Amino acid sequence: MTLQIKNLEEYQQVYAASVADPEGFWAAQASSFHWHKPWDKVLEWNFTDPDINWFKGGKLNISENCLDRHLDTRGDQVAILWEPNDPEKPHVTYTYRELHAAVCQAANALRANGISKGDRVCFYMPMVPELAIALLACARIGAIHSVVFAGFSAQALADRIKDATCKMVVCSDYNDRGAKHIPVKSVVDEALAMGCDSIETVLVHRNTGDSVQWNPGRDKWWHEEVPGQATSCPAEVMDAEDMLFILYTSGSTGKPKGVVHTCGGYMVYTCFSFMNVFQYQPGDIYWCTADIGWITGHSYIVYGPLLAGATTVMFEGVPTYPDPGRFWEICDKHQVNQFYTAPTAIRALMAQGDQWVEKYDLSSLHMLGSVGEPINEEAWKWYNEKVGKNRCPIVDTWWQTETGGILISPLAGITPLIPCFATLPLPGIQPILVDAEGQEIEGNDVEGLLCIKFPWPSMLRTTYGDHERCRQTYFAPFPNRYFTGDGARRDKNGNYRIIGRVDDVINVSGHRLGTAEVENAINQHPGVVESAVVGFPHDIKGQGIYAYVIAGSPVADEDLFRKEILDVVSREIGPIAKPDKIQIVSGLPKTRSGKIMRRILRKVASGDTSNLGDVSTLLNPEIVEEIMSGAQS
Ligand code: WTA
Repeated sequence: MTLQIKNLEEYQQVYAASVADPEGFWAAQASSFHWHKPWDKVLEWNFTDPDINWFKGGKLNISENCLDRHLDTRGDQVAILWEPNDPEKPHVTYTYRELHAAVCQAANALRANGISKGDRVCFYMPMVPELAIALLACARIGAIHSVVFAGFSAQALADRIKDATCKMVVCSDYNDRGAKHIPVKSVVDEALAMGCDSIETVLVHRNTGDSVQWNPGRDKWWHEEVPGQATSCPAEVMDAEDMLFILYTSGSTGKPKGVVHTCGGYMVYTCFSFMNVFQYQPGDIYWCTADIGWITGHSYIVYGPLLAGATTVMFEGVPTYPDPGRFWEICDKHQVNQFYTAPTAIRALMAQGDQWVEKYDLSSLHMLGSVGEPINEEAWKWYNEKVGKNRCPIVDTWWQTETGGILISPLAGITPLIPCFATLPLPGIQPILVDAEGQEIEGNDVEGLLCIKFPWPSMLRTTYGDHERCRQTYFAPFPNRYFTGDGARRDKNGNYRIIGRVDDVINVSGHRLGTAEVENAINQHPGVVESAVVGFPHDIKGQGIYAYVIAGSPVADEDLFRKEILDVVSREIGPIAKPDKIQIVSGLPKTRSGKIMRRILRKVASGDTSNLGDVSTLLNPEIVEEIMSGAQS
């Protein structure tokens, strides 16, 4: 059994033991899983190459651990409870036994379509059970899944398919999301027309039943390929360090990179963190509202909960459809015990007034979680009072796509809470703060750059196809440390508060975007000479996107020009990356070496020009005045 910590004293003891003997600690956690062959060595690592191996030589299959392992003990318990977008439609459940059969059928269908161990399969799908089923089917046959959030554009999808040379795309016909009826298959068709030569098959799940264009030979219907397959499927025996999945995420430079997670360590850590942070008890109904297109959905809708034998709710829709009471209606209807969402959703619902949350019985809730961005005090208090009725602990969970699982967070009901603090590291996690030179900042009541100084099982192993980029981004900034890109404060008692990104990554409604990525998209507009993008504080989204744009020739119709830029960004990345504000400028403040002074741009974007600092060293100090007077409010 995975260790589940019960009180603060036990946490302190376990934490100390996990640091004193990490190998012993993680070996004990790993032993509760089914291994075809035990590992030879718990941990081998260096942060220089980097080269990280957990449970080396161990053989396993994560889908067996999510499914087969539970059949005797909880075969008839609900594994996935799916709530559709349309509240009038019935919800759907899969017991562990049913899910096992469905995954085996999908796995057999993948094999029948030429997918085998090591092949990459891309997913571009709404939040339907078939998404979770097909992910587990990939894992079962050792194929590597790469899920692309279905809000990304055809161009973004094509970029990701090419980077991972995927052999298959799994998609649906259409997606019903809130009141929107969104084509999915046609976006895949568009992406594949951009030269995704590696794709042999498109497996299409009939979701809404709308008609779609068909490419015979390449396109296959899920309902023709899957249901006739056998309901058992021998699992591929994987090495602990074989790749499990790739997930693309934005960084401060260049195109999004494919973060790689491997089988053994990811399995051990997602289960351990799930059980401990959420304090899941047998029979509980757990709901994480994330989309499986992001890491939160991978680790805490699919893998963590299923590894722990939990009942995990999967929701197809959005918090405001058909009205802003939907989340609470679902909590009431399914008697949800653990509820995990993002601050942006909390702020959006808070803005709609208390009547929505007051309409429903939320007495089943035991704990509340927050993830993806710093939660502001107002939202924390509203969540605590209106949703949790002052009786549910709130776990503010800090982690990243790269960390695979939650690293710093209260354990629900155990760790003393401080609003807006992620509080303490999980067992096995050794965070430190460093200054700009990489010197460790010791002691308490300090602030610095957040690094982790020792490996944990679910950390990224590489960035797909470009190991050097992984080294440069995460391990080169400070030798012998993993650099998170976040700044943090440690209070007098050692509790961490995450301040936010210190690099050129912005967090818009909990979605990570690189400013360079958005700039590259804007620059695709033929009339744009140069652009600079920064984040600014936004009441609902956390951060909004502010773009400064230099046009090649005088702009006759500024509104039209702005609209065209928004269209270009939607086309290149997706609607989530559309700037909230676009200011047309004649130049950008630059240093004598030609570097854009983003500090000034950030200040202007935030509406605070009181203290711009010394601008006299700029190459073009006169531009600052122009930018300030033209600031978009
Ligand atoms: C931010 C999401 C403050 C942080 C799981 C991190 C947070 C980035 C929190 C990773 C939190 C995530 N408090 N900030 N509780 N959780 N972040 O890869 O800046 O989408 O580096 O992973 O989100 O975003 P990602």
